[in-house]
Amino acid sequence: MSFSELKTVRTRLNRSELFVPGSKPELFEKAVSSNADVICIDLEDAVAPQDKDQAKKNIISALNDFDFGKKTISIRINGLDTTYCYRDVIDVMENSGERLDLIMIPKVGVPEDCYAIDMLVTQIENKIERNKKIGFELIVETSLGITNLDNIITGSKRIESLHLGDADYAASVRKRTTNIGGPNPDYVTLTDEIDGNREKHWNDLWHYPVSKMTTIGRAHGLRIIDGPFGDFSDPDGFIAHAKRTAILGCEGKWAIHPSQVDLANEVFTLPEAEVTKAREILKAMKSAQESGAGAVTLNGKLIDAASVRQAEQIITQTELIESQS
Ligand code: COA
Ligand code: MG
Repeated sequence: MSFSELKTVRTRLNRSELFVPGSKPELFEKAVSSNADVICIDLEDAVAPQDKDQAKKNIISALNDFDFGKKTISIRINGLDTTYCYRDVIDVMENSGERLDLIMIPKVGVPEDCYAIDMLVTQIENKIERNKKIGFELIVETSLGITNLDNIITGSKRIESLHLGDADYAASVRKRTTNIGGPNPDYVTLTDEIDGNREKHWNDLWHYPVSKMTTIGRAHGLRIIDGPFGDFSDPDGFIAHAKRTAILGCEGKWAIHPSQVDLANEVFTLPEAEVTKAREILKAMKSAQESGAGAVTLNGKLIDAASVRQAEQIITQTELIESQS
């Protein structure tokens, strides 16, 4: 291990993050009654310009009057390039007490984007003597954001998580997609002919940004959360996508419709078989250490100290889920 210690910035259950437009307060109740770990109320792209002010008022009154239970509550503010952003932060934070947990910053491109919002949030927290510190969720969704990711994360100590914004990312890099977060039938590998057959193998359009985010984000102790899957009538597509990003290191996914919440919770709750295996690995390694062995075999396979680190992560995440369900 490096001498530089790696710490998780903040542990939170974030298997599912349900989005609700701030302009639709009639959906807040439904969002709360869902099993979503996090609810993100949107002020950005799901809210039309003429509804932005009312959406903010809806959020403020919900944060004051509504019982969100134990759920983590986030708001997505408008981008730093708009005329709404600064007032989103000031109006909501100055008028909503302590209930808000997170602010999601869209389209981050440089560390100063995070620094600027941190400056505002810090001043307001100090002014109103807020006890609970706001955390930041960043949406990585532009070529600039992906390019500068390593630096962006140094922009604020409030950053807890990185989220892939599939649609804006596709627009930014001119990736051709047919559905938000989905595959493209033209993005295939045509195999050579084997026994007279050639096959089309669909490839994952999102592998690069997700892998970059998990690699860099984990180096800073952040949660990595997969973004939206637009076709909410396709649960199989959602599950397949979520399983891929879970394997790449994400620990949750957005839900843009309540029907996606339980799917995300299921995929991002580690399978019982993996948890059992992790426990077996820890047990086997403990006895190996007691007898002075380094690497050992379990069920005919090598396990070593790296297996222990993987197993410990599985157990830690499982205990977090169990503690909150
Ligand atoms: N949160 C809470 N409840 C929701 C919801 C959400 N995001 N989306 C839908 N519902 C409710 C509906 O009100 C409806 O409730 P009812 O059965 O009591 O009438 C039920 O779930 C079924 O909804 P459905 O009719 O299938 O969908 P819809 O046509 O009403 O809404 C969307 C579809 C996509 C417009 C809506 O889901 C939505 O606004 N999603 C969030 C979009 C968003 O925030 N995007 C930004 C991030 S990408
Ligand atoms: Mg976006």
